[in-house]
Amino acid sequence: MTLIRGSLAFYNIMPVTVCHNIESLRARVKQWRNNNETIAFVPTMGNLHEGHLSLVDIARQKAGRVVVSIYVNPLQFAPDEDFDSYPRTLDDDLKKLQTRGVDLVFTPDSAMIYPHGEQQCSFVEVPVLSHIIEGEFRPGFFRGVATVVLKLFNMVQPDIAVFGEKDFQQLLVIRQMVADLDLPVEIIGGPIKRESDGLAMSSRNNYLGAEEREKSRYLSETLLAFRRQIEKGVAIEQAETSCVKMLESQGFAVDYVTLRQVKSLQKATKDDVGLNNELIILAAAKIGSTRLIDNLKFVIESST
Ligand code: PAJ
Repeated sequence: MTLIRGSLAFYNIMPVTVCHNIESLRARVKQWRNNNETIAFVPTMGNLHEGHLSLVDIARQKAGRVVVSIYVNPLQFAPDEDFDSYPRTLDDDLKKLQTRGVDLVFTPDSAMIYPHGEQQCSFVEVPVLSHIIEGEFRPGFFRGVATVVLKLFNMVQPDIAVFGEKDFQQLLVIRQMVADLDLPVEIIGGPIKRESDGLAMSSRNNYLGAEEREKSRYLSETLLAFRRQIEKGVAIEQAETSCVKMLESQGFAVDYVTLRQVKSLQKATKDDVGLNNELIILAAAKIGSTRLIDNLKFVIESST
């Protein structure tokens, strides 16, 4: 019995092709296109966890071929951010992707993506959405994301691309870029994967020390508390203030905790509460030197 299970496990692991340059990527994609196969794409920065892999699973359900890219994009990091220390774990990542039936892993380097340096390249600027909430705290971040995602789309030429709702504002920025620039890619959002205590999975969770990791669960708990307050009819600003205080009392430095309309990410007002509107709470806060983000979508059924 053990022998059969062992050998099945061996044969279940499909070999994954790794392409380091655009020519070999294009050649492989062209072969698939000639066979009328559809292609789903999951862009990542590596250090893969179940959140990333859940997007791969969605991609596999949607298309015949799945491409994952692993590239830590310097254009989306500010000079004082963690570009240099961002975890790079390619061997482990490839093993994980192998077990999830990925057809191709694209691992470009910066010389390939930004041959003249990342400050010298044409860029994509998605207005309004890029400059609110996360964009206020990370100027240039969404420009960096939109630019690299457009470049990756042009390299991979997928039919479908899957992004996580964990980075909800990023997902909306990409959707708007695709609509505004008429890109022939269908964008699919995947739900947030969480640890058992509610912490949203993230490569940056690796930075947390034991005590910080223990406290980090308060971020998702605060989002739930915010929702409960809104459901009970507490005024939005009051709920926001009490949630900021709650986080601060646990040692977080809060960038924002804010209730927004889900489609535009504009501020929700009391008129949005009680109309069966879908709303979203977005939060970003630092614990120690690690910045965490999270969000919670929900529908208000009644304001009282
Ligand atoms: P990265 O942080 O590696 O995330 C890659 C994808 O995984 C994103 O779409 C992100 O939203 C999703 N993801 C991360 N954690 C998740 C979780 N807990 N549950 C579900 N999905 C999750 O986001 C980026 O990379 C970059 O900005 C990128 C789009 C690759 C451009 O450089």
